[in-house]
Amino acid sequence: MKIWMNGKLVDRGAAHVSVFDHGLLYGDGVFEGIRAYGGKVFQCAAHIERLYDSARHIRLAIPYTKQEMIDAIYETLHANNVADGYVRLVVTRGEGNLGLSPFRCHEPTTFIIADQIALYPKEMYDEGMAVIIAKTVRVSPTMVPSAAKTLNYLNNILAKIEAVDAGVAEAVMLNTAGNVSECTGDNIFLVRDGELVTSPLSASVLPGITRGIVLRLARENGVPVRERDVTPRELYEAQECFLTGTAAEVIAVTKIDDRQIGDGRVGPVTQKLFAAFRQYIKSGKWD
Ligand SMILES: Cc1ncc(COP(=O)(O)O)c(C=O)c1O
Repeated sequence: MKIWMNGKLVDRGAAHVSVFDHGLLYGDGVFEGIRAYGGKVFQCAAHIERLYDSARHIRLAIPYTKQEMIDAIYETLHANNVADGYVRLVVTRGEGNLGLSPFRCHEPTTFIIADQIALYPKEMYDEGMAVIIAKTVRVSPTMVPSAAKTLNYLNNILAKIEAVDAGVAEAVMLNTAGNVSECTGDNIFLVRDGELVTSPLSASVLPGITRGIVLRLARENGVPVRERDVTPRELYEAQECFLTGTAAEVIAVTKIDDRQIGDGRVGPVTQKLFAAFRQYIKSGKWD
């Protein structure tokens, strides 16, 4: 495997990060998870924009132009013969000293990995998955900007541990107001009275690229859409529920805690949007 590291391709075994790197010491950095389908990077511009937005939020200057980053992603995919796969693009604050100050870190560390990812088994896509509502509360945007995809995922990891302890694959996180925010690595939607509902970005929600696509596909397919605060009770009482994310794509939720969602099967709106999403990918008519 070849890793793109600070401007050049190196063997996996030679892709080293300093123990003084603030990405490692403090989770100080930003990243993207991106899919490639048929040799083309899915929603490339949107992911690159979010990467640079995330960096701006944490006052990190990425030492490459957006076009250089795009070229580097393709270079990494080609070097690893990955046409359909997953790209992880990481920019850390770089090497500093043991103090917290990011201004002692003079050169960000940038690396790109091209690999495969299968977040959930196929049966879960056919039958739906079970999730829990985590006790770990999602950090509010007043603590860490939720619009930024930072390397600081401990909040999500703690909720993920709760999910694993409960024997399920994902956890829904509530925000400090007690409303539904998102899952540890996915956005969440519910269907209620024929309307598709998802938490607004103000509910400590990462502006998911897949979330944006699904909202657009829903409108195009005549499904009414609303972004508004959602209570945990509404989630329990939803007719349908599903998650979206780059790695997960679109996956139905049929059980939340000990409550069955709808009739416990993948519902019609979810099926429709799942099919529309697959069709959109297959069409290749995206940038
Ligand atoms: C916390 C969180 N929310 C939502 C998402 C989904 O975002 P996207 O669709 O851009 O992958 C992710 C994954 O990137 C995530 O880590």
